Amino acid sequence: MTLVPNPAEKIIVALDGMNETEVIELVQQIPKLSWIKIGLELFVSGGPHLVNNLRNMGKQVFLDLKFHDIPTTMSKACRQAAMTGARLITVHACSGSKALFEANQAALEGAAEVGFPPPTLLAVTVLTSWSNDDFSNELLIAQSINERVRLLTDLAVASGLGGCVCSPLEAKELRSLNPSPFEIITPGIRLKGGERQDQSRVMTPLEAVEAGASKLVVGRSITQSENPSEAFNSFCRELTIA
Ligand code: C5P
Repeated sequence: MTLVPNPAEKIIVALDGMNETEVIELVQQIPKLSWIKIGLELFVSGGPHLVNNLRNMGKQVFLDLKFHDIPTTMSKACRQAAMTGARLITVHACSGSKALFEANQAALEGAAEVGFPPPTLLAVTVLTSWSNDDFSNELLIAQSINERVRLLTDLAVASGLGGCVCSPLEAKELRSLNPSPFEIITPGIRLKGGERQDQSRVMTPLEAVEAGASKLVVGRSITQSENPSEAFNSFCRELTIA
């Protein structure tokens, strides 16, 4: 029995710390790979044409640029991002409802103009690098991180966004408030006993999906493996009950 219909579609491989040639080589090594996350570092070096190249290789791109700016700039940036054919695009929810609403509309229009399917804008709420102490001492925010995450997710939903990126530990509560097809995408995923690197709050793929995650972001466990294809398959296997 398969636990999820197509496990390979649930796993997004984060390509961090690689140049364009290494990216293409890695992608060619993992035949079942469907989703790729391009972050700031890779986008700054590879640019929109890398997104095109990957799309032409049949891959779906999650463009994780975490836009945060005034409404006009957000809209224009999201429009351009959507015109690359990226299917998932991140924006900071604390940009506010006007910026989020307009950015979402602009992304839909941009994709439609060039004949791509509608992208999903994903809200980034509170970066996991923040602690509750830094939150109150540096930003003088009285809310806890959990309260803030809920508030910003509500704002994103009310502004028409189709999902969010969050810690796997936040997934259960956010899923209870936001049923599917709202996307809940979680990094911080490790196989049981796997190296945690700098992630402190991790879940296994199965735990994260059971908590309500719709897609999982996995980086170094796959990209730094001696056999990336086998590592990718191990993540898929965990979502499949034989
Ligand atoms: O290598 P690892 O699996 O830890 O990679 C996780 C990916 O998810 C990286 O691209 C990282 O930037 C991203 N990410 C994260 N935590 C967040 C948001 C994004 O680890 N809260």
